Order: sequence, then structure tokens, then C-alpha cells
Amino acid sequence: MLLKRLILKNFRTYSDLSLSFKTRLVFFIGDNGEGKTNLLESISILSGLKSFRGNSDDEVTKWNENGYYIGSLLTEDEEEYKLEFGYESQPTRRKKIKLNGNIFKKQADAFGFLPCIVLSPFDLIIVEGSHTERRKFVDHLLSYLNKNYLNTLNEYNRLIKQRNASLKTNQIKKELLLVWDKMLCEKDDFIRNERKKFINELNELFQKNLKLLSGDKDDFQLYYKPNVNSVDEYQEKIRMNFEKDLRVGYSTVGCHRDEISIGHSNRDILEFGSQGQKRSTVISLKTASFELIRRKLNKDPILLIDDVIRELDVKRRQFFVDLIRECGQAFFTTTDLEGIQDYIGNLSEPKQIFSIKQGGIEELN
Ligand SMILES: Nc1ncnc2c1ncn2[C@@H]1O[C@H](COP(=O)(O)OP(=O)(O)OP(=O)(O)O)[C@@H](O)[C@H]1O
Ligand SMILES: [Mg+2]
Repeated sequence: MLLKRLILKNFRTYSDLSLSFKTRLVFFIGDNGEGKTNLLESISILSGLKSFRGNSDDEVTKWNENGYYIGSLLTEDEEEYKLEFGYESQPTRRKKIKLNGNIFKKQADAFGFLPCIVLSPFDLIIVEGSHTERRKFVDHLLSYLNKNYLNTLNEYNRLIKQRNASLKTNQIKKELLLVWDKMLCEKDDFIRNERKKFINELNELFQKNLKLLSGDKDDFQLYYKPNVNSVDEYQEKIRMNFEKDLRVGYSTVGCHRDEISIGHSNRDILEFGSQGQKRSTVISLKTASFELIRRKLNKDPILLIDDVIRELDVKRRQFFVDLIRECGQAFFTTTDLEGIQDYIGNLSEPKQIFSIKQGGIEELN
């Protein structure tokens, strides 16, 4: 899939912007703070409905405005698609997503229509952050591949939120609790099984990539550690933990507490990884995600590469060159173009370069 046109209104630094893309490789260059990442962020919202920087719709809305708009023109196999995303904060917060003029009744259905993989310095959080960050990473990818998973996960999270709210007020009705816990148990079972299958697949590719990157030195794996292992265990544990849940004011049982370890069977990279090992781990994970999406969706994902050029040694760079060769389209941000040739290898195909300065964008020839 190719992004041919991007239109932004009141998004971060951009009041009104329209860019046309004619090539597979697109570069945004500019000094720090000029608005390069803002552009990638808008594309990532079209893809995954959320900012990859974790900011809310209000935060990405241009200051002092009441909403934003992201419009796009996409092409695949000679077909054109118009994908649009609009947000209003007044009078109440409201989001609309349209494909070819038709509003998605279920917004989750728009998720991943444009598959994107983001590579950014922010990715280290998958390795250095909490289990919540690792779950988010897995959930995001799995949601691209399986809409049923995304819907079930959303329903599960909604139920947990309701359960937590009533635990906090200590006004939980026994009958309601029984209904919630039965529904939660079914969804937990589904989510756990899907995560198990997916992490196994991801792990194979991850291991292969990391071995290549480390010259067979690092043999880390992904280990999925579900909070409960079966329906029976769920029912038993949720009953046993009820008093505790009331005391702490939140639900302590279920897949929202699943853990994903990375490293050796009994040791997590968080405890022992060097900076280089952590970086290689992230690149191997991201590359594995790219391969998996490509294989399963039969679509070439768009790469959003945010300022990672300088950090890469020769070996890691080669991984990027391979990814760029295989992706549908790649958008890069950088403060200068020096050294970019090493980074994109011998890909001598046409490129577009946009220079960003003081809110204005100019295409360089
Ligand atoms: N909601 C917003 N409304 C208006 N401006 C914003 C908003 N959010 C961030 N900004 C501005 O956007 C700029 C940052 O943009 P961005 O993160 O894209 O920079 P960048 O070019 O990627 O910089 P760097 O090279 O440092 O990563 C800052 O000047 C910041 O003040
Ligand atoms: Mg940036």
C-alpha cells in the first residue's frame, strides 16, 4: 500500500497542510522541534488510530483549536482509497473515521487498513518498560492480524474498567459480579490462547533475527507468562482473590496482568542486557513484526522511521536496508541527509525530500 497524499488540519504544528507523495522513499529533514515526527505521528494515527507517542487526541490537536483532521489518499493494486480521520473536542469528544466517504460504524474495523510499522527511539520502551508496554506491543500487532482479537480485548478492558470502578466504591452487586466474571473468564480464555499462538510465531522470527544480528551470540527468547493458564484456574483464582480485589480496589486476576519476558528462561533482558543487546532486541522484534504482518496480511507495510539513523552500526543498518527493500513505502525523519546513503544502502530509486522549517514545508529537488 502506498500513501499518495496526506492532508493535515490543526494537527500539532500544522494548521493546514497538503503533501503529495510520488515515490516509495520519502525524507523529512529539519532541525529539532520543527515538526518532523508530527508528520509520522499523523500517519501512525491513520494506521493504528492512536499516536505511537502515546498522546491523546486532545494533545495532538493544535493548541487552542477544538479538533483535528487527517486525510489521506492510498493506493494498492491500482485501487484508490480515501481514508479520513476527524476529531472534535467540543461540545463532546467525538471521533469519526471514514473510508471512501463511508463512516466506520465500528472504529476498530479501520484499525490496520493501512498497516504501518514505526521504528523510533521510543521503541526501547518495549524492552525497558513494564509488562504493560510489552503487552501493548503484542496487542497492537495482534490487532492488525485479528479483528476479533481487537474487539474481544476492547470488551475485556471495558469490563475490567467497570469491575474496578465498582470495587473502588465498594458497592459491588453479587449478581452483577457473577455475570461480569463469567464474561471476563470467556474473553480471558480467548485472549490468552491468541496471545500464546502469536507470541510463539513472533518468537521464531525474533530469535532468527537476533541470532543474525549478534552473530549467534544472543539466544534470547520471548516467554509468555499468562496470569492464569486455564478456565478452571481463572474461576478458582477470581474467587480466591475477591477479598483482595476489594481491599486494593482493582481486579488482580486475568490477562490484563499477563507478563511477557524477553531473555533467558529465568532472567529478563531488563536485568542483564547491555545497551547494544537491548537495541538489537528491539530491532529484531520490529523486523519480526514486519515479516509477520507481511506474511499474514499479504500487504507490504509502510515503514515510519523516526530518527534512528545515527544509532546504528553496520550490521544493524543492513537489517534496515533489507526492510526498506521489502516495504511498501518508507518515510524517514532526519536532521540532515549526511550518511543517509549508508543507511538506505544502494537503493538508487527515486526519493522525495521535504525540508521543514518554521511550520513551512518545501520539497527539495
Ligand atoms: N499540540 C500541539 N500544538 C502545536 N504545537 C505542538 C503541539 N504539540 C507539539 N507541538 C510542537 O511541535 C514541535 C515538535 O515537533 P516534532 O516532535 O515533530 O519535532 P521534530 O522535528 O521531530 O524534532 P526532533 O528532531 O527534536 O525530534 C515542538 O515545537 C512543539 O512545541
Ligand atoms: Mg522527532
